[in-house]
Amino acid sequence: MANGNVDDIRVWVNGERVDAGPALAALDHGVTVGDGVFETAKVLGTEVFALTRHHDRMDRSLRGLGLPRLDRGRIQEGIDAVLADGPIDFGRLRYTVTAGPGPMGSDRYDPDMTYIVGAAPAPRPEPSTSVAVVPWTRNERSAVVGLKTTSYAENVVALAAAKDLGGSEAIFANSVGALCEGTGSNIFVVLDGTVLTPALPSGPLAGITRALTIEWLTEAGIDVHEDELPLSILAEADEAWLTSSTRDIQAISQVRVAGSSSSLAGQIAAANISERTFGTAPGEITQRAQEIWAKFSAERMDP
Ligand SMILES: Cc1ncc(COP(=O)(O)O)c(C=O)c1O
Repeated sequence: MANGNVDDIRVWVNGERVDAGPALAALDHGVTVGDGVFETAKVLGTEVFALTRHHDRMDRSLRGLGLPRLDRGRIQEGIDAVLADGPIDFGRLRYTVTAGPGPMGSDRYDPDMTYIVGAAPAPRPEPSTSVAVVPWTRNERSAVVGLKTTSYAENVVALAAAKDLGGSEAIFANSVGALCEGTGSNIFVVLDGTVLTPALPSGPLAGITRALTIEWLTEAGIDVHEDELPLSILAEADEAWLTSSTRDIQAISQVRVAGSSSSLAGQIAAANISERTFGTAPGEITQRAQEIWAKFSAERMDP
């Protein structure tokens, strides 16, 4: 199984430890139509990194779907239940809240929310990784843009395409060909000494690692510019990195292009990134960013 063993995953649903066993109602709207939201946070021992920010983002996602606010006490009960077995050196906490039982279509009953919390060990991130630009787009004008919903099938397809090319992440442009994000990560580039990342109107998720990277680099004297960036910046950039809760700051060693059968084919060809190699050793500014991240994150567990 990719990413560890199912027997290592601890799961709590609506008040009970169920681990890998059956737990969800067949008509849960999270199962039938992906009507739910989730968070993935980093576990270090028995602590969860940046939990308040994750809860705040979940509240924004719930509000965006028109669902009630997160019951933080209830989710903490689940977190305690999965961490009670003992520390996880490095791992992932995944919590999901769905609209609960629903009809078989897209309308809803009154929400009777389902709360799910899982935790499992995860591999520590490599300092660098390769990615593939995929020929499908993020919709920066979607009804659910910026919400971390459980409707992630698009990401599953894109990630599989990237993995076919030996990459660990897929990179999306948005509907107008601007650089956007990965399936589960944000992207930064360094061009002529300037650090740049796609601005939120380009459609990426407001990543917590992204926000902290911007804050902490700024605090350490490195400006970060949020802007609309053309996909072609991947061909021109001197360095590039991914950010996410389980990758922290991970250098991009190589960019490949997966498929070219879509409307994005022209932009991908024009971007001239048929294969861009940055090298496996993180570049100078990436390394500095990794050092700043390591220092600040060690000092601040719930920044
Ligand atoms: C689509 C998407 N973009 C970016 C991120 C990175 O966000 P964070 O740094 O909060 O983990 C994620 C996280 O899983 C994501 O799902």
